[in-house]
Amino acid sequence: MNPIELEQKYVVHAYNRPPIVLVDGQGVWLEDAEGNRYLDLVAGIAVSALGYGDPEIAETICQAGKKPLHFSNLYHNEPMAQLAAKLVDLTPFADRVHFQNSGTESTEAAIKFARKFARTHFGEGKTDIVAFTGAFHGRTMGALAMTPREKYQKPYEPLMPGVRFARFNDLESARETVDDHVCAIIVEPVQGEGGIHPAGVDFLVGLRELAWKHDALLIFDEVQCGVGRTGTFWAHEQMGVLPDILCAAKPLANGLPIGAVLVTERVAEVIHPGDHGTTFAGGPFVTSVAQVVVDRISAPAFLQHVQETGAYFKSRLEGLNHPHIQEVRGKGLMLGVQLDMPAAPVVEAGYRHGLLLLNAGADVLRLVPPLIITQEEVDIAIERLEATLADVG
Ligand SMILES: Cc1ncc(COP(=O)(O)O)c(C=O)c1O
Repeated sequence: MNPIELEQKYVVHAYNRPPIVLVDGQGVWLEDAEGNRYLDLVAGIAVSALGYGDPEIAETICQAGKKPLHFSNLYHNEPMAQLAAKLVDLTPFADRVHFQNSGTESTEAAIKFARKFARTHFGEGKTDIVAFTGAFHGRTMGALAMTPREKYQKPYEPLMPGVRFARFNDLESARETVDDHVCAIIVEPVQGEGGIHPAGVDFLVGLRELAWKHDALLIFDEVQCGVGRTGTFWAHEQMGVLPDILCAAKPLANGLPIGAVLVTERVAEVIHPGDHGTTFAGGPFVTSVAQVVVDRISAPAFLQHVQETGAYFKSRLEGLNHPHIQEVRGKGLMLGVQLDMPAAPVVEAGYRHGLLLLNAGADVLRLVPPLIITQEEVDIAIERLEATLADVG
């Protein structure tokens, strides 16, 4: 049986996949089993920031792979401690880090920390969480409760109680929703799954003030928009608002599973041994690789490349002037193309034109390529996108 037949027979059908089997990749290009090459504008959903076959990542993996892959959180380990120090150095508001294995685990940890913080300082009854329309915080039960999409939530009810929703980018709605029973407000500085919607600066400033007023913690979910994606190491750096907790994951180890929650000392102080933990997180293998990613992406020249290439990509998309394109939005290399038609047929046609594309919601094309993409590769992407759109148009 070929891999697709094997999968159809043995794997739970929880994903709809196109009939291609990816086998290799180099830079921003992926190759399937039949030798077709695709320009990748997906990066494994904003994960493979340094692209494929990066020599430094490969060498780090070889070296770390010769040492124990796992020690457990029972013991100290050097690469984890070094990665934590690097992340804190890069994050003015943060004093400490707690590691996870994924984005959803990071948001779970964040809300656990917020509840513990509220219970420690304010006693019982301050357990509610405010999230926003269009948000995506993950699929585990706590994160799912904060991800207001019926299709994701309905089959798994009852959900974790205590989550309220306000309208994204609507401060009045947030004001009506937050009160003294709220322990945390969680928001993506740039919504990803919800359709690439940057939060307004006034909105985030207002949330910061609301959180202070009601003794709630402000959590930024930068799982998708963080780690260089928008042209600064964290997206919120461009918005001048600091959270109490930040969640990161996707690109942090360029494709190996990792999550991180960065917190202030005040938050860290309420977490004691045994309060939260996991078997794998912070292991020496993955944190060795993550150190390379963090060093490379935080370099000013790298971030400048993301800003410049992102601005170039955005202007080329705006120049497409296609009748089905209503708006181009986003920051850095996190771009959304609002269509007046479903995005799914465009994604599908992309395969025929050697282009990996992704939707965000029903009618937005989400472009989140490896951050190493060059202007020449953007030109190729635009050419292929034009052909793709002509195909479905
Ligand atoms: C903003 C945000 N938070 C959380 C998650 C969940 O991350 P993971 O899929 O690694 O659990 C995602 C995934 O897309 C995300 O975009």
